[in-house]
Amino acid sequence: MWAPEGPSLVQDHLGPEPVMIPAPVTAAFNEQLNREMYSSYFYLALSAYGESLGLRGIAKWFMVKHQEELTHAMKFYRYLVGQEATVVLREIAAPPARFGGVVDAFEQTLAHERQVTRSIHGLVDVAREHRDHASDIFLHWFVTEQIEEEAVVSDILSRLRLVGDGGEGLYLMDKELEQMAAANATTGAA
Ligand SMILES: [Fe+2]
Ligand SMILES: [Fe+2]
Repeated sequence: MWAPEGPSLVQDHLGPEPVMIPAPVTAAFNEQLNREMYSSYFYLALSAYGESLGLRGIAKWFMVKHQEELTHAMKFYRYLVGQEATVVLREIAAPPARFGGVVDAFEQTLAHERQVTRSIHGLVDVAREHRDHASDIFLHWFVTEQIEEEAVVSDILSRLRLVGDGGEGLYLMDKELEQMAAANATTGAA
């Protein structure tokens, strides 16, 4: 029967020290955690805006986005904790309280998601620059997620531009977004 006989054997069994995330990658991941928290806050403000217009579907759609962004923030949080890196939580910036209509709300959403895509791509660059393969692979999920998010928002926005900021068309879009929100809430996607 095999048994460890001394400190040297135990050391061999444990193997070399774990590979830590490089400090610049840790800093960039902490920044992204904050951005995802801001995204969550931003969509909560948009959900409240939908409520203020009496557009229940839009309010629900943004509420699902709010929750989804929290799960993104938590993915970064869990990754940092799992890699034994220091989690640094900072202030979350205040999102706008007023918007210039439903079209404007979705234009701001698309602009925001495009900015997030750029920051995710920036993270991939930082990970690769430091030959941090684990972080690089971790980020692939986010790269794919951003393609999906931009496509969904773009599609909604192009139809909202046709419909405009009022009337029966907007009422129908609100119903459609309510159904999308219900489907996404059950599948966990948005
Ligand atoms: Fe996100
Ligand atoms: Fe997002």
